[in-house]
Amino acid sequence: MASAVRPGLCLGIETSCDETAAAVVADGRRVMSNVVASQAALHERYGGVVPELAARHHLEAVLPVVAEALREGGVQWGDLDLVAVTRGPGLPAALLVGVAAAKALAFARGLPLVGVNHLAGHVFAHRLEATDAGGRTVAARAQEDRSGEGDGAGDGHIHIHILRDSGGDGLPRPAVCLVVSGSHTDICLLPAGGGLRLLGSTVDDAAGEAFDKVARLLGLGYPGGARLERVAAAGDPRAVAFPRSLGALSGARGSAAGEGTGAYAFSFSGLKTSVAQHVARGRAPDGAGVLSAKGISDIAASFQAAVVDVLVDKTMRAAVACGVEVVLLCGGVAANAALRTALGAACAERGWALAAPPLAYCTDNAAMIAAAGWVAHAAGQTDGWDLDADPSLPLAL
Ligand code: KG4
Ligand code: ZN
Repeated sequence: MASAVRPGLCLGIETSCDETAAAVVADGRRVMSNVVASQAALHERYGGVVPELAARHHLEAVLPVVAEALREGGVQWGDLDLVAVTRGPGLPAALLVGVAAAKALAFARGLPLVGVNHLAGHVFAHRLEATDAGGRTVAARAQEDRSGEGDGAGDGHIHIHILRDSGGDGLPRPAVCLVVSGSHTDICLLPAGGGLRLLGSTVDDAAGEAFDKVARLLGLGYPGGARLERVAAAGDPRAVAFPRSLGALSGARGSAAGEGTGAYAFSFSGLKTSVAQHVARGRAPDGAGVLSAKGISDIAASFQAAVVDVLVDKTMRAAVACGVEVVLLCGGVAANAALRTALGAACAERGWALAAPPLAYCTDNAAMIAAAGWVAHAAGQTDGWDLDADPSLPLAL
């Protein structure tokens, strides 16, 4: 009897911002372990990420986190086939810690090394399969939700319909993908044959950055996005008519020819300023002096609605222009339930499919880095010991 083929095991390492993460992923798909050591508590008192502190903490945490990922996955060093590490974009000193650790570990264990684009990692989170508490794969769970057996919308699991992989890399294609993180807001096309075409990016603040800055304005602290979402749940999204930058933005980078200059570019700084002015008025001597809890919730909900409207509008228009019927959503802001629900509803209205990874694979993690690295290595990429961090790497596969 032929023995089963042993799955290829990749150790992923991620240190681009304030999460020290390591994961073991089989065949670039099945998550065996996913360890994330968050530094949120460390940076909270400063109201944002302090790069030097982040790097120092990565240095202390990276080896214990890797050891924990191996232990959790029930994997020995000798079982591994590849080491994948985020090489950019991100904070320079933070990236360097992960890259140096990955190089040292791969060299010492005689393993090949692959440097991964963090944003490509977010896209490859769509490849991952994970088991939930009931031992079912997340994909299976999504199927059940669709057939009406699951608890459906609002549980963070997106309805994954039939996802074709025509590019050979496990990504649903053709598709339009919205990547929304703390430092990037990108719309890209995943063409049927493979590769990636950037359609538009933010010209100023990223969506996550806007969430973080507005959370700070509202006194919600850091990390802002998830906290703002919680506060917004008690607010009225129609309470304040904040501006929506829906038109084309001339001079924007990353706009595909023939699809309108800057049609898929984003701008969130005007919205942020408008919120700041609104908050200042609320705090003026002739106003209440201090914003009420209801006032804060209403501003949070109205801001969130404005961001979601813009993200959904531009993503759907990009999908129409590209003639695709599959939309992918990833990056830290993809953890936002209002965004998942609104984009899901817009897709459902047209009978399209929306796929978004489970929340743990939307925010920064190393499983997505292992998935992207595995695919890159299978396609022939192996990096040398001169691999370097590139803090400003643009989205590319
Ligand atoms: O992808 P990510 O974890 O790190 C980067 O690559 O930047 O994204 C982090 C961003 C932060 O700006 C954070 O506030 C935002 O994602 N975020 C959210 C939520 N969870 C995280 N924004 C809105 N709602 C959320 N639930
Ligand atoms: Zn990220």
